[in-house]
Amino acid sequence: MTGIASIRGVVRVPGDKSISHRSLILAALSDGTSHISGLLRSADIDSTASVLSALGVRIEPDKEGIAVHGRGLRGLLVPKRPLDCGNSGTTARLMAGVLAAHPFDSTLIGDASLSRRPMRRVTEPLGQMGAHFTMAGDGDGLPLTIHGGTLGSIGWNSPTASAQVKSAILLAALNAQVSASVTEPARSRDHTERMLAARGIPIVVDGESVSIGVARSMRAMDTHVPGDPSSAAFFVALAALVPGRTLDMPDVCVNPTRTGFLDVVQRMGAVVSLLDASDEGGEPTATIRATGTDSLRSVNVGAAEMPSMIDEVPVLACLAARAEGETVISGAAELRVKESDRISAVVRNLQTIGVDAEERPDGMAIRGSLAPLSGRIETHGDHRIAMAFGVLGALPGNEIDIVGPECVSVSYPSFWSDLRRVA
Ligand code: S3P
Repeated sequence: MTGIASIRGVVRVPGDKSISHRSLILAALSDGTSHISGLLRSADIDSTASVLSALGVRIEPDKEGIAVHGRGLRGLLVPKRPLDCGNSGTTARLMAGVLAAHPFDSTLIGDASLSRRPMRRVTEPLGQMGAHFTMAGDGDGLPLTIHGGTLGSIGWNSPTASAQVKSAILLAALNAQVSASVTEPARSRDHTERMLAARGIPIVVDGESVSIGVARSMRAMDTHVPGDPSSAAFFVALAALVPGRTLDMPDVCVNPTRTGFLDVVQRMGAVVSLLDASDEGGEPTATIRATGTDSLRSVNVGAAEMPSMIDEVPVLACLAARAEGETVISGAAELRVKESDRISAVVRNLQTIGVDAEERPDGMAIRGSLAPLSGRIETHGDHRIAMAFGVLGALPGNEIDIVGPECVSVSYPSFWSDLRRVA
């Protein structure tokens, strides 16, 4: 990729991936029709939509975006074929929760990356609620057959801060019409509980715990999906890397469980402000304005901040490669079970292009410099690895080739054209 000489302007990032999955799933479980605008159009969201279609949910385009005709709680139909979740962990884990409460067998399958990702973290609590599972291989991945049925209530202490685990339990309880509570070591993104509460479901949040009460039905709701802060992060980083340049990203979700990266970038010396603050369907939104400074400082990021910026670590690591001093990222072992082993993939790729980086069991250390960077990036089919290194590749003086750049279709299909356009 050729370097870009100047960075300015506005980037309208696509709809939030987490909220898009949940908008479809909650609409499918509601009574009545939900109209959704701003939905992310990407491979991961297509996976959720096609899984729901295979379960009898009618989804069709309308003038605002799409219309989802809900089937009500526990109203999904027996699927005629395995349910293909593609590359999407959120589809697999959230649907495992939904299907555990449906009185039939269903099988979740996925691509090679998803098939390797841990599912026991959801089958364990769902099993304790009364669901049964048949798992392939070593019993911790896909294909996963769910033998759903009547479930009991649960109080689950989750060993990891995971919105997917929390959501699987809440969605199982919702459909089974039982109560449940989940306590996490640190608060993960809270879209599910916000969206359930907005639809009239009894939800109580107390510190790191969230509880759901029994509801007999869920009402349909029209929603607008705000922009994805994890997609905006690449352009925040791009602005931060170029002194004096400003980028605006309008209508982005700035839910505090998602904005840890913005805090860290400011500690590194970039200027970030939130303008036009608003609220959409219970989610705070704003225009994110990011401006680069003369030099970025290194930073330490640990376990406490990790849940609020877990998907932004690859791009943070790329920023750290240009910052003065040593950046240490710790408490991030969860990155090893994302779409790729992101600790290993990030560190190896940084080393390949000439950055002084070191892998640690739960994170990495990166010593930044302003030396030109060049080489080929192995994405391992991981969209966030491709985009993070794409940002570094867009800087003047760097010559970085991304192998398999099309994997961005999972979350941000127009990423490369947006990146070129702000040049
Ligand atoms: C997501 C939760 C996070 C995140 C993923 C999306 C979600 O995963 O990394 O990209 O939508 O619930 P975990 O729940 O596994 O932490």
